[in-house]
Amino acid sequence: MSAVESVLQERRVFHPSSEAVLGATVSGMAAYHALVAEADRDFEGFWARLAREHLAWHTPFTKVLDERDAPFYKWFEDGELNASYNCLDRQIGLGHGEKVAIIFESDDGTVSNVTYRDLYHRVCRLANALRSRGIRKGDRVVIYMPMSVEGITAMHACARIGAIHSVVFGGFSSKSLSERIADIGAVAVITADEQVRGGKTLPLKNIVDEALAMELCGAVNTVIVYRRTGGTVGWHANRDVWMHDLVAAQSDTCEPEWVSAEHPLFVLYTSGSTGKPKGVQHSTGGYLLWAALTMKWTFDIRPDDVFWCTADIGWITGHTYITYGPTAVGATQVVFEGIPTYPHAGRFWEMIQKHKATIFYTAPTAIRSLVKAAEADISTHPKCFDLSSLRILGTVGEPINPETWIWYREHVGGGRCPVIDTFWQTETGGHVIAPLPGATPLVPGSCTLPMPGIHAAIVDETGHELPNGQGGALVIKRPWPSMIRTIWGDRARFKASYFPDELGGKLYLAGDGAIRDRATGYFTITGRTDDVLNVSGHRLGTMEIESALVANPIVAEAAVVSRPDETTGEAIVAFVVLKRTWPTGEEGARIANELRVWVAKEIGPIAKPREIRFGENLPKTRSGKIMRRLLRSLAKGESITQDVSTLENPSILDQFGTSA
Ligand code: WTA
Repeated sequence: MSAVESVLQERRVFHPSSEAVLGATVSGMAAYHALVAEADRDFEGFWARLAREHLAWHTPFTKVLDERDAPFYKWFEDGELNASYNCLDRQIGLGHGEKVAIIFESDDGTVSNVTYRDLYHRVCRLANALRSRGIRKGDRVVIYMPMSVEGITAMHACARIGAIHSVVFGGFSSKSLSERIADIGAVAVITADEQVRGGKTLPLKNIVDEALAMELCGAVNTVIVYRRTGGTVGWHANRDVWMHDLVAAQSDTCEPEWVSAEHPLFVLYTSGSTGKPKGVQHSTGGYLLWAALTMKWTFDIRPDDVFWCTADIGWITGHTYITYGPTAVGATQVVFEGIPTYPHAGRFWEMIQKHKATIFYTAPTAIRSLVKAAEADISTHPKCFDLSSLRILGTVGEPINPETWIWYREHVGGGRCPVIDTFWQTETGGHVIAPLPGATPLVPGSCTLPMPGIHAAIVDETGHELPNGQGGALVIKRPWPSMIRTIWGDRARFKASYFPDELGGKLYLAGDGAIRDRATGYFTITGRTDDVLNVSGHRLGTMEIESALVANPIVAEAAVVSRPDETTGEAIVAFVVLKRTWPTGEEGARIANELRVWVAKEIGPIAKPREIRFGENLPKTRSGKIMRRLLRSLAKGESITQDVSTLENPSILDQFGTSA
């Protein structure tokens, strides 16, 4: 069932309780509408007011928005600030030095607390250490780290000296890592000996060594290694250095590098519909403003909250709602090294109980898998834990189906916590369409209304706005401070991907389809309209997986589509043509398995196809285009309704109809 169909079946509206409204940062719909109206009335004045109220500026900005080089927008450009100063020094200045910034729980359940003052000193020492290795403002540093205080420290240390970090998720292969290191031209890599998740270790440092042995990574002259497990690692004495050795000699204070608000804070690679992953470049000022503001608006964060976002720092959610957002507002947060199902599938609920988390933010896929697990083993059901500390629940990364939404609200939120379905993207920097817990009436399956200041709309193929009730392409009509600035090293691709001429060149194209409710104007996201897949909330390009497959010497051609999956949202199905006859039976299963392992090596385990099907030829149109719609029908096991008269060899439909 599509998101839209199931929404139509769930028509209940959940209004915020009077307690939720009372004392909320945005209290009641009138307050929301007042902010929207303020942004409409005086767009630049609105953003200027917020930037002054929510950030500490070393040099105040005099100009808010510079549109001269649109769509390369600039925000607060002549203002100077430092992101790490804003998050750490400022909290200490406000008297919050002894407040716990991070409650860290390791894979095996060991807990350690880090105060704002501790975090500040750790960041300063590592920042000095980076400088001691010759790293300066504008240099790029790749971070390939487990979920750890050290990973967050590394990001802040880069920000402190104006170095641009690029975090690569620990699940990516050495090849993917090397491509990212090469594309960004990194001079240093920060990593760990090993990562520990679910009781299993992954040799991060060795993967870095493999990546650096590949071509085009020659600029890297420093590898800083955090010792997590003490496992054996290879060593290059003139390049590698232990983090604890390097920071031991450093001062625990460090003068921040004051940078322009437009100075890049980080580049994060994400998948697009064509070609290699794109390096999404974010600014310092605009990005940090939105990270702080959305913590206040969408999560209604208050001084005694215990916030927990279960994302990894390798994704945008970890950047905005672990590293920067919570610290920018001086919150206490839980940071978790492990996985939700280890040592049992009640781990999340147990941790909420243990740390008395008040705000919990996770992905629909995780919830769906825990629903299943709780059905199989009742001792992992949320009802077996005391979750009364919870106040607000959030979801991110993929559509949440109404059934799961209701389960989350009832069983995790005890029927009292609002479920905040946040729509956003790596490119938007933070939430762009999301309910506000003390204001917005909730409808399961809808991310409701745009955040104040975000001019979201739905348009047709030519860029004309569509009325409510008509599905189309989701766009944002005006720039906003935390928007992507460019694709690293590829301005033309930035413009073509996000501000395409077909839509007039002025609308930000999200790449998602959406529809607005006729009566309320609420948005429901209907999924990507390009060749981007969303598997367990992880974003992957079909092209990337296809390129990985055809890089295998036995593969002639490959096409990748997805089919809906109850738990992971989408599942990858690959249609493969080998250079020799198509295999069936056991041989097919064996080759399929080899190819799955191959894709894991080329990209990472998250990109492994769920199914691989073999045939003699891919179905193509007369002009040679792969008939993807047909493949999608085959993947879903639907009967074929498309016109297949152009197919040279209709028997391939039978060949591809079944999985190897
Ligand atoms: C999808 C993750 C429906 C969407 C923050 C988007 C969602 C892509 C939602 C971005 C949501 C994210 N409802 N779909 N609440 N949130 N998406 O860059 O397709 O990893 O374009 O950023 O995830 O994925 P990304």
